[in-house]
Amino acid sequence: MSVVTIDGPSGSGKGTIAQLLADELGWHLLDSGALYRVLAYAALEKNISIDDESDALIDLAEHLPVSFSTIDGVTHAMLDGESVEQHIRTETAGNAASKVAAMAGVRQALLGRQHDFAEPPGLIADGRDMGTKVFPNAAAKIFLTASVEDRAQRRYNQLKQKGFDANFRALSQEIAERDARDANRAASPLRPADDAYLLDSSGLTIEQVLQLAKAYLAEKAVI
Ligand code: DC
Repeated sequence: MSVVTIDGPSGSGKGTIAQLLADELGWHLLDSGALYRVLAYAALEKNISIDDESDALIDLAEHLPVSFSTIDGVTHAMLDGESVEQHIRTETAGNAASKVAAMAGVRQALLGRQHDFAEPPGLIADGRDMGTKVFPNAAAKIFLTASVEDRAQRRYNQLKQKGFDANFRALSQEIAERDARDANRAASPLRPADDAYLLDSSGLTIEQVLQLAKAYLAEKAVI
């Protein structure tokens, strides 16, 4: 049973690449960012503050009734059996997720749940600390990056496509701010694992990135 980790900043395309690889290989997929997004959403729904690490927040993380379901070919994050996909994909939800993700207690509380995704025939784990903290012994580790402009453009297109309002300049700024917060936090900061393959997707198509990723997995004898 192999685990492949794909880490990187938001908008680098890792969610898309992780999904495509999982589909193509018939492996399980862990979208770890969705766990932080659902947690932040659930906390706000229950009037639990996400500004400070509290017992209530840790307790919620430990018992979060989150699951994933495929509806019409699209993966939905579910909370208490109800899809919260539309709620958790907004920029506001992403920023709230970034806050709870900065808390060491929250990360610890969600660790076991992430390990549970490692089931045969294999797992593609998408996140920020998959290769460094959650699956340090993964068979292959990819760190996917892209310039802030490329990432803001992709996010802009994604949001528009989903029917959300989007502002390119505001998105660029938010991405840069979120990067700084994710990279500078004390608990599991965003950084490539020492043994990760650094893949810069700036200016590349999804297909080109996918081919590079697969070439690396083949070289590691994972596929
Ligand atoms: O990948 P994403 O945009 O859905 O992640 C949402 C937030 O969660 C992001 O600010 C970083 C954080 N995150 C994290 O700290 N560790 C992970 N493994 C995944 C996401």
